[in-house]
Amino acid sequence: MVRIAAIGDLHLKTRVPDALADGLADLRGRADVLVVAGDITDGGRLPEVEAAAELFRAVNVPIVAVMGNHDRRCLRRTAFRRTLEDAGVTLLDGEATVVDVGGRRIGFAGVGGYGGGFWPDEGPALPHHRAAQALAVRARREAIRLENALVRLRPLAPRATVVVLHYSPTATTLGKEPPLKYWMLGNIELGRVIDRHDVDLVLHGHAHLGNPDGSTLGGTPVHNVASSVIGSPVVYHLPVSGIGAPQSASASTVGWPA
Ligand SMILES: [Fe+2]
Ligand SMILES: [Fe+2]
Repeated sequence: MVRIAAIGDLHLKTRVPDALADGLADLRGRADVLVVAGDITDGGRLPEVEAAAELFRAVNVPIVAVMGNHDRRCLRRTAFRRTLEDAGVTLLDGEATVVDVGGRRIGFAGVGGYGGGFWPDEGPALPHHRAAQALAVRARREAIRLENALVRLRPLAPRATVVVLHYSPTATTLGKEPPLKYWMLGNIELGRVIDRHDVDLVLHGHAHLGNPDGSTLGGTPVHNVASSVIGSPVVYHLPVSGIGAPQSASASTVGWPA
């Protein structure tokens, strides 16, 4: 088993909540990797990302993250990225990385994603045709960037593959979000890309009123790890089979120890 701790939507301002700092500071022994599913900051401001960097510097396992829509408000993207990277965070924006966990290579493909909705496969159609078209263009671009990241992972032959998103690839993790808002929360194109690849686990945030457990139409496990949904970080136990053996497509969850 490889243990992947995950949380999203920290929406950090300049002060880091004590409970969050305490929970993340003691990951060793509980998790092998930490995934942060975007909206790390509340407004993308540099003092906020500096607060996040200070928080992440105290985490003693590798960190993989994507940017959320709130992080994208940052006007100084290079400084934003560099501040996180200096704190040991691998920020994936249409990119892939392999993390070595005790000799087991775990692949991560990450992109923020975009809205656009889940119609016609899941959820309602968008009311305004022109808006739908504009959304679809950007949604498709982000899905292509995810596809490219997954393609780049393949020759690296990871023992398991995790997709990290901010927006959701499915409506099954949107919980109490009103269907009229689905178009703002993710899109089905991301789910289609995931189902074309051998993905073991998908983690996303953004849907603050969602539910934690769902799946793509193709059955890939998807978890909404927005902090308002899961409360505190969750550790997903990812089965990693022997070399050459097929991967299990399931992941189990355990509660974060109090
Ligand atoms: Fe958020
Ligand atoms: Fe968001």
